[in-house]
Amino acid sequence: MAEISPSIEALLSEERRFPPSQEFIDQANVNDPAVYERADADYEGFWESWAEELHWFEKWDRVLQWDPPFAQWFIGGKTNISYNCLDRHLTGARRNKAAIVWEGEPGDWQVYTYADLHREVCRFANGLKSLGVKKGDRITLYMPMIPELAIAMLACARIGAPHSIVFGGFSPESLRDRINDCEGTVVITADGGYRRGGIIPLKQNTDEALEGTPTVEKVVVVQRVGDKFEGSMKEGRDIWWHDLVEGQSRVCPAEPMDSEDMLFILYTSGTTGKPKGVVHTTGGYMVGTYATVKWVFDMKEEDVYWCTADIGWVTGHSYIVYGPLANGATSVMYEGAPDYPDRDRFWDIVEKYRATIVYTAPTAIRACMRWGEEHPKKHDLSSVRLLGTVGEPINPEAWMWYRKNIGGDRVPIVDTWWQTETGSILITPLPGITTTTPGSATKPFPGIQAEIVDEKGAPVGPGQGGYLVLKRPWPSMLRTIYGDPDRYVEQYWSRYPNIYFTGDGAKMDENGFFWILGRVDDVINVAGHRISTMEVESALVDHNAVAEAASIGKSHEVKGQGVVAFVTLKEGIDTSAEMEQVLKQHVRTKIGAIARPDEIYFTADLPKTRSGKIMRRLLRDIAEGRVLGDTTTLADPAVVEMLKQQYEDEE
Ligand code: WTA
Repeated sequence: MAEISPSIEALLSEERRFPPSQEFIDQANVNDPAVYERADADYEGFWESWAEELHWFEKWDRVLQWDPPFAQWFIGGKTNISYNCLDRHLTGARRNKAAIVWEGEPGDWQVYTYADLHREVCRFANGLKSLGVKKGDRITLYMPMIPELAIAMLACARIGAPHSIVFGGFSPESLRDRINDCEGTVVITADGGYRRGGIIPLKQNTDEALEGTPTVEKVVVVQRVGDKFEGSMKEGRDIWWHDLVEGQSRVCPAEPMDSEDMLFILYTSGTTGKPKGVVHTTGGYMVGTYATVKWVFDMKEEDVYWCTADIGWVTGHSYIVYGPLANGATSVMYEGAPDYPDRDRFWDIVEKYRATIVYTAPTAIRACMRWGEEHPKKHDLSSVRLLGTVGEPINPEAWMWYRKNIGGDRVPIVDTWWQTETGSILITPLPGITTTTPGSATKPFPGIQAEIVDEKGAPVGPGQGGYLVLKRPWPSMLRTIYGDPDRYVEQYWSRYPNIYFTGDGAKMDENGFFWILGRVDDVINVAGHRISTMEVESALVDHNAVAEAASIGKSHEVKGQGVVAFVTLKEGIDTSAEMEQVLKQHVRTKIGAIARPDEIYFTADLPKTRSGKIMRRLLRDIAEGRVLGDTTTLADPAVVEMLKQQYEDEE
C-alpha cells in the first residue's frame, strides 16, 4: 500500500482556494466547465475533434480500436508530426514568428523562426538520408540542450526514423545499454555541452559507449564547445553536423506516417534493473500533446512559453518541442543550470524574453526558495500570466512561494500529473475553470478517467488512500515496451484487468480532487527524475568490494527524494568514509550523477523476508529515522534484526 506520510492529513485539510480571476476566465481557451461532462459522455468524439484541428495526409477511418491492453488511435490516418509542428505554420504570420528562442549557458542566444526551423530540419533530414537512414531506423540522440537537439528530433520524425533521446547526464554505460536495446544505427551527439561553467564531455562519453555497440554505423557531432573540445573524431564513422548539412537541400517532404507508426522510444526506470523503452506512436501522441498545451497552458499566439525541463526527459519531448510547436507557439529553450552564473538565472531569462508561461519542477522551486526571494525580486516578472509544475508532488509551501514570488500573487498555477508512459498531461487544473488548492493536481483532464482504488480495485471514498489507475485508453498512451510486449502487459495491465496501473499512490479529498502521494513501487523520484532501486543496487554490487546492496528513496528537502543505500561489504573489507565515497562515485560512473546515493549505510546484514525479499519499507524507516531516532551511518546489525522481527510480527 502507498506509504502515506503523516503530513497528508494536513494536506487534505488545506483550505486555501484560488479561483481563476475573471480576467483570466474571460480570455481563456477553455472556460466552460461543461467540457468535462461532454468529454466524458463521448470521449472518442472529444479526441476526434482535437485531431480535426491538425493536418492529416489521410483521415482516419476509426477513432479508436481498443483490444485491452492494446489501443490504436485514429486508425488508417496518415500524418506527420514534423509537418504539424512546422509546415502547417509556414503560411501567414506564423512563418516569421519565433518558434524556438534559445539561450546557451554562457549567455549566447539564437532565435529560430518557423521558417528557419523548417529549413534546418529539412537540411538535417536530408543529411540523415544521405547517411542511409530509412524509415523505421532507430536514432539515438545524446545531446546538450541546444537547438540542434530539437532540429534532430523533428528531422527524425520527418523521415519516420524513431528517435531515442538519452539524457546528457547519463553515463557511457547507460547510453550503451539504451543504444543496444533498440539497436540504433546512428548516434547524434555534440563535442560537449555547458553545465555550471564546466563542459559535459558528450563525445568522449559516446566513444566509450560505442566500444560495445555493434549496430552503430555513424555518429553525427554538433560543434558546440569548439576549441575546448578534447576528444577526437573517428575516421569513417564520425561526421560533423555542419559538414553533413552543407549543401543539403532545404526541401524535404514529410513522410506520411501511419497514425500508429512509432514516433519515439524513451527509456525510463521501472521496477527492475533494466530501463524500459517506452514506445510512443505518431497520431495519438500528437493529439494529446497538442490538446494539453492549448488547454492546460492556455496557449495563445502572443505567448512566450518556457518549460525548464531537459529534452532528455519526457517533459522536454512533449512540452518543449512537440506540444508547443504543434500549437505554433514560441518555446524558450535554455541549455544550462539555474544557478549559473548566479542564482537568478531563471528569472533573468523570464525578464529578458518576457516569458508569459513558465513550467518547471517543484525541485527547482524549492531550490529557489532556499536561495531566497531576493533573486526573483531583482527582475521584472510582470510578463508572467500562468505557471506550471510537474514531476513530483509539490508541497503547499513551495506552491505558495511560487505563486507569490514568480506569479506576483495573481496568476493561476497548474500542477500537472503525468508520466513518460502517459505521453501528455492527464491530471491537472484547467486554468480558466479550476479553483486550485496548493498541493493538489486537482482533476483528470477532460476525457480521462482516473480513479483511486484499493487492493481489490474498488474505488476508495473521500479521504482514503489507494492506487492511482486509469480506466480507459487515451490517445497519447504508450503502446508497448520496445522489444518486450510482455513487460508492457505485466507492468501496467496485470494488477487490475484492463485498467492501467500508474505505480503512484494517491488520495481523494471531499471535493473529488486528487492528491498524488508518489510512487508505490521501487522507483525513486529524485528531483523529478525516476531511478529504480534495482538500478542503483546493480551498480553497487558491480563493485568488487560489495557483497550485497539495497537502495531506497529518502525524503529530501529540495530534491523531494534522495537515494540512500545499504551496503554489506565482502568478508575482510573494512567500512570507511573513503569506501563510502568510492561507492558513491561508482554509482555515478555506472549510471549518472542523478543516481549517486546521498548516503550509504554499511550494515553486516540486510533485513529480508523469509522468501529473501529485501524489506525496503523497513530500510526507509531506518533511513528516515522513524524507528531508530537519530540515524548513524552504521546501522547496528542487532537493530536491523530487531526491526526485522518487529516487521515480521506486523505482517
Ligand atoms: C511523478 C514526468 C505528483 C509521479 C512527467 C509519476 C508527479 C512520475 C507529478 C512520472 C505531479 C509527475 N504530482 N507526482 N504533478 N508529475 N509525478 O515518467 O510519481 O519522469 O509516476 O514523467 O513522476 O515521472 P516521469
